[in-house]
Amino acid sequence: MTIQQILFVVLAVIGTLYLLRQVRKPTRWIGRLFVWVMNKSHSTLTDWGLQHVLIEKDFTILDIGCGGGRTIQKLAAMATEGLLCGVDYAAGSVGASRSKNAKLISEGRVEIRQASVSRLPFPNAKFDLVTAVETQYYWPNLVKDMQEILRVLKPGGKLIVILESYKVGSDNKLERPKKSLLRYTLLSADGQRELFSTAGYTSVQLFEERSKGWICASGRKPL
Ligand SMILES: C[S@@+](CC[C@H](N)C(=O)[O-])C[C@H]1O[C@@H](n2cnc3c(N)ncnc32)[C@H](O)[C@@H]1O
Repeated sequence: MTIQQILFVVLAVIGTLYLLRQVRKPTRWIGRLFVWVMNKSHSTLTDWGLQHVLIEKDFTILDIGCGGGRTIQKLAAMATEGLLCGVDYAAGSVGASRSKNAKLISEGRVEIRQASVSRLPFPNAKFDLVTAVETQYYWPNLVKDMQEILRVLKPGGKLIVILESYKVGSDNKLERPKKSLLRYTLLSADGQRELFSTAGYTSVQLFEERSKGWICASGRKPL
């Protein structure tokens, strides 16, 4: 191998790692680009997932890992008399979500804050519904983070987790390299059920669209 070839490989590896980091936590302009792409590519998945939950007009809703803010916009169209909050730990996502929902923010119907799922900037029992689309993979401590969500849910309130790729049996070879590079946790449907129960949720429900690898998991805060 020549020095030029070695240099090319090193730069390609650094570039790939940088891009993967931006997918996980969009901070710079390139991250904003990913967030824009995610708004487009996650739309059908989000519509499918949201069919599995009843959304009342006056609901107070939190969307965690709100990315480009498309889910917040969809939820605002359903909870027409409610309040929509979004959090994301990445500055790039918060900026993109705020731009996408600028009108709703100016009307006082939407609030978007920079925060981690591990420390939500809200009082106990504020929300009727918490949504999390394509973000749970990245959370640092799944049980504790799910319990932090439980804290901000009203008794009887619901968490709904919507994911595009999940573990189906052991046939998951292609996901493994992606998983280790992006450092994410991939759970099976049974794994999701166990996680919800361990974290203290009741009435756990799982919906799968196996042909697409989609999963939607939900659970309630006990009354
Ligand atoms: C793949 S994007 C999905 C964005 C959006 N929910 C969607 O469906 O298009 C994942 C988002 O989760 C956010 N995220 C990852 N870990 C997080 C954490 N610990 N707390 C809050 N947000 C997080 C990332 O910053 C990113 O915006």
